[in-house]
Amino acid sequence: MQRFSNKVVFITGAASGIGRATAIRLASEGASLSLCDIDDKGLATTQKACEEQGAKTTIYQCDISNYDECAKAIEACVTQYGQLDVLCNIAGIAQLQHFTDITLAEWNKMLGVNLSSVFYLCQLAMPHLIKTKGNILNMASSAGLVGQAYMSSYCATKAAVVNLSKSLAIEYSRHSVRVNALCPGNVKTPLASKLNIPADVDKHLMRLMFPLLEGAQASEIAAAVAYLGSDEARFITGAALPIDGAQTAG
Ligand SMILES: NC(=O)c1ccc[n+]([C@@H]2O[C@H](COP(=O)([O-])OP(=O)(O)OC[C@H]3O[C@@H](n4cnc5c(N)ncnc54)[C@H](O)[C@@H]3O)[C@@H](O)[C@H]2O)c1
Repeated sequence: MQRFSNKVVFITGAASGIGRATAIRLASEGASLSLCDIDDKGLATTQKACEEQGAKTTIYQCDISNYDECAKAIEACVTQYGQLDVLCNIAGIAQLQHFTDITLAEWNKMLGVNLSSVFYLCQLAMPHLIKTKGNILNMASSAGLVGQAYMSSYCATKAAVVNLSKSLAIEYSRHSVRVNALCPGNVKTPLASKLNIPADVDKHLMRLMFPLLEGAQASEIAAAVAYLGSDEARFITGAALPIDGAQTAG
């Protein structure tokens, strides 16, 4: 399938996990890529993998919680390729801790990386997406659909990403710009494996975090991104798609 031939895709979080898997999947489907992450070494590895698929690939080291850095990255993408068709906001951080232990600095960082960045990049990309009748894919989480114990700051950002996506889907529907959120459950990536569980949590309260099925591979989330970002999903906008092994179904 070459669903992304002549399409330019901007992806955050491309140095690892779901972002890297998405970059490689879209490269295999013909996309030209602008890849962005704070981790330059991981970005270079992803770039190599995408170029091996024959994709034009540019990388930008960028802290997405910084508006000016986001603006420079979008500007560089459009200058290089002359267009932008798909924005994938995938980068994110997570923290598992007692609510009363969250410091102001940790709260602000969570909001900056997981939520403000999505606002910045959607706003910066929108004029370009209107020109191409493009679309936005925001990586939310099952934690954006239901509450989860010890994940309050993360849940707050992901729920906000879901509703930001739905609002933009309605507001930009007349411009034919689609906006969707994806809501994975447990995915086998460094983010999930590095989560530190405090010793004194009530495991009973955490049971809802674990899906009925075994965790997903990043490539399985990338497959959903590829479908939603393609013209095959022309009539899907304003969706928040659970990909969570029925974690949030009950
Ligand atoms: N892994 C899961 O179980 C899971 C479940 C639901 C949702 N998600 C979401 O999927 C997305 C990708 O997560 P992942 O599991 O692939 O994690 P990951 O840790 O493998 O990748 C996250 C990437 O984001 C980058 N990043 C972090 N802070 C950044 C910043 N300030 N500026 C630029 N880049 C930054 C990291 O360097 C990393 O490359 C996140 O938004 C996460 O919340 C993950």
